[in-house]
Amino acid sequence: MYRTHHCGELRQSDVGKEIKMAGWVQTVRKFGSITFVDLRDRYGVTQLLFGEQLTKRLDENPLGREFVLQVNGRVAERTSKNAHLSTGDIEIDVSSYSILNKSATPPFTIQDETDGGEDLRMKYRYLDLRRNELKKNIELRYAVNRAARNYLHENNFIDIETPFLIKSTPEGARDFVVPSRMNAGQFYALPQSPQTFKQLLMVSGYDRYFQVVKCFRDEDLRADRQPEFTQIDCEMSFVEQEDILEMFEGMIKYIFKQVKGIDYAENVERMSWEQAMWDYGNDKPDIRFGMKITNLKSPFKKDGKIEAVGELINGAGFGVFENAETVLALNLKNAGSYTRSQLDELTDWVKRPQIGMQGLVNIRYQKDGSFKSSVDKFYNTEKLKSIAASCKAEPGDLILLLAGREERTRKAIAELRLELGERSGFRKKNEFKLLWVFDFPLFEYSEDDSSPGSIGRWVARHHPFTAPKPADIEIMINNNPAIENAATYLEHPYSGIKANAYDMVLNGNEIGGGSIRIFQRELQEKMFEALGMSKEEAMHKFGFLLGAFEYGAPPHGGIAFGFDRLCAILGGSESIRDFIAFPKNNSGRDMMLDAPSPIDEKQLKELSIRLA
Ligand code: AMO
Repeated sequence: MYRTHHCGELRQSDVGKEIKMAGWVQTVRKFGSITFVDLRDRYGVTQLLFGEQLTKRLDENPLGREFVLQVNGRVAERTSKNAHLSTGDIEIDVSSYSILNKSATPPFTIQDETDGGEDLRMKYRYLDLRRNELKKNIELRYAVNRAARNYLHENNFIDIETPFLIKSTPEGARDFVVPSRMNAGQFYALPQSPQTFKQLLMVSGYDRYFQVVKCFRDEDLRADRQPEFTQIDCEMSFVEQEDILEMFEGMIKYIFKQVKGIDYAENVERMSWEQAMWDYGNDKPDIRFGMKITNLKSPFKKDGKIEAVGELINGAGFGVFENAETVLALNLKNAGSYTRSQLDELTDWVKRPQIGMQGLVNIRYQKDGSFKSSVDKFYNTEKLKSIAASCKAEPGDLILLLAGREERTRKAIAELRLELGERSGFRKKNEFKLLWVFDFPLFEYSEDDSSPGSIGRWVARHHPFTAPKPADIEIMINNNPAIENAATYLEHPYSGIKANAYDMVLNGNEIGGGSIRIFQRELQEKMFEALGMSKEEAMHKFGFLLGAFEYGAPPHGGIAFGFDRLCAILGGSESIRDFIAFPKNNSGRDMMLDAPSPIDEKQLKELSIRLA
């Protein structure tokens, strides 16, 4: 027997017990004629004491870091206790030991504060995974998985696997493809999600499905994106939006409770897409803090009308604002005393290529009620006061204004808001704020009609299986989707159609998204037509689904959660890599396997592939 106890287990009350223990050597410290070794395993660290006799043996045959060691000994009370360690009251007085395996010197220290850079740690991922931090992340991931499964099981969901070698499922990214040896010249695609399969399962009558499943998307990577990632994918029959929101709000709250011990008692906040865009500039606002945008001038319509038309801004002769499509403002409370250099630094921040603005206008509302502004040449005190009032600013506040094209400016101010929120300490890692965003536009207009899934000029904002709001179905059926004039697409009836879709947002991250689906063949065909697909093409690509809709498809809808993202946020990180045992780097490479890699001629030949 290698062990009777693990390295995180023994306490004061175990003193006197004879035990066996095995693990990895974390540190070796020699004090005169005796030696202390910290032994580590998955559960913790225990101090071992090697007396004079054994230390002599160690001198001849020294232990190194990460050696695999097995010891027999007696639990003893420590003379100097370590309050930072759960086993810090005791040590093992070793009577005999054996080295089960040696270790080369590890390329970085296996400690919380490691000296290894990310690439090195990715290459030796199996060593990095020994570190406490990663171990905690992997454990958290399992806890989330278990909680989700328990909840779904209790609610009658059934886990059904769906295939990985399939035909393309359009979710807006590129497919990874797999050549078929048995069908020369033909390819499978790896699923971007099990979307069509879970819908078919609804047609089959499995009215509550789930799967914790790998999805594959060939898209540009970021901290919260991996080419293969995991979804908690769910679908239900005979449901409306409200049923889904309730069920999955319940699931997330259950996960919060089980994994973090958090009672998320309040109802999850809800916001329409329009409201989110208007107040926060993006569709996944971080509502842990306010700092809403003031729309001083904008063509973005809310509730079908423009609230602010720019009378405050126009007519003062300030060309930048006068010529801009949009002028948006943020009020940073109690920052009116910002110095020149602080403002310059913020200006540089918005000018970075990632943000891409030309400049940043500021109005500093002084404590005495006067104004200092980069535009006081154009706006007199009275005007500045009115602008301040519409931004709900008070003496002592700082107003920051961005101007330019609507889309870019709104995006930029959303980023600026997050940055200011971060700098002001409003984005606390241990505070969790959930939000449902819904009433998204069903279609987006895209000038690029060559990207996958976006055949034609209208693209499905979520995916082509999402149903329009019931009130908009008529508009969709009765109008021709063709766009005559790209410049006036906003006037096309399709641009106003709302989707029966919803996203769940956690602390400013989209952790899940779903929709009520189209389940009638006619409407689904109309959707494909809107996306620029011919009847033949639709039949070729989705004949199986259109066919299934002929055989009694029930009304259905669902949602998929980004499992990696959910784990990362619960773990207080924005990088999902830290929560995946074997992730890829930002170029999509597995540094450990050195994949992707070329394959040999013979394999290519078998697959009937010649490289260009
Ligand atoms: P969607 O494309 O919104 O919906 O994906 C669902 C959730 O998956 C996460 N996610 C990702 N996580 C890591 N890396 C990625 N590359 C990545 N892409 C997406 C996000 C997202 O909210 N079939 C639909 C769901 C449905 O309609 O039921 C779908 O896949 O957290």
